[in-house]
Amino acid sequence: MKTHENADTGGITKPKKVAIISASGKLGRYMIQHALDRGYDVVGVCREQSVSKLDDFKDRIEIVPGATDDRDVIRKAVAGCDAVLTVLVPWGMNHYASGTAQAVLDFAEPGARLIFSCGWHISRDGKDRYTLGLRLMVSVFGGIARLLRAVDLNDQVEATRRVFDSNTRWTIVRGSDLEEGESQGLPVWSRHVGDPVLESNMTRRIDFALFMVAAIEDDTLVREAPAIVGRLTESARQHAHSNNNHQMLLEAPSHG
Ligand SMILES: NC(=O)c1ccc[n+]([C@@H]2O[C@H](COP(=O)([O-])OP(=O)(O)OC[C@H]3O[C@@H](n4cnc5c(N)ncnc54)[C@H](OP(=O)(O)O)[C@@H]3O)[C@@H](O)[C@H]2O)c1
Repeated sequence: MKTHENADTGGITKPKKVAIISASGKLGRYMIQHALDRGYDVVGVCREQSVSKLDDFKDRIEIVPGATDDRDVIRKAVAGCDAVLTVLVPWGMNHYASGTAQAVLDFAEPGARLIFSCGWHISRDGKDRYTLGLRLMVSVFGGIARLLRAVDLNDQVEATRRVFDSNTRWTIVRGSDLEEGESQGLPVWSRHVGDPVLESNMTRRIDFALFMVAAIEDDTLVREAPAIVGRLTESARQHAHSNNNHQMLLEAPSHG
């Protein structure tokens, strides 16, 4: 395991090993790159049939193949990890998301940072204010997907409820609509969807991943459910400095 020189203290900080659950997806692969850039040791979990999607990283990370709701797979992957980054995916009708979250909650090391991804539709306290368009999208997409037995958004809600109720050092990062493109730096965030800073509803996927990885060492995000938006979007530019309660327009931490 690597160690890191701490420039401020001249000392050696704690080694960092990070597990990424659902590592072979788009978000997962960006998170691997950000984690490697920071010098973390990385363990990635992905389905057996997707291991080849991690070929670019295979010499630099440990891969644990298997379903992310397989408790033995998660137990093995998170052992000795200082942080676990979990992409909560609501696929199928077999409680995949809640099974995944529960396994992470049960087997992560005590005190580990646990960061989960989901979308804006997840609400921690019911105080989010959604546009009609978003409500319709979730209800129509969720209904059709459920009918097709392809996606179970209710199970993603259940997964996040379990995380909210846990005594772990969790953060649930709620993503806006996503787009591809070069990094714009660390997204800005707010506690509630509907806050003006989030109005643009767009984040680069690479920066969603950046926020997840940066959260590992950001204790101000412990037990927060930040809703994020790209830092260069119109709403972020207009409103990011206006709300002192929220962490806004932080400089992306330097890599190393
Ligand atoms: N517009 C958006 O897409 C949007 C908006 C806001 C938030 N989010 C959040 O972003 C995260 C996912 O983003 P992403 O870009 O990484 O998506 P992605 O590339 O589609 O990857 C999602 C993960 O789902 C897995 N998967 C796919 N089909 C599966 C199946 N039938 N059974 C089990 N696992 C399956 C994939 O594994 P394999 O590699 O093995 O296929 C992959 O690890 C989620 O937390 C989501 O809530 C997305």
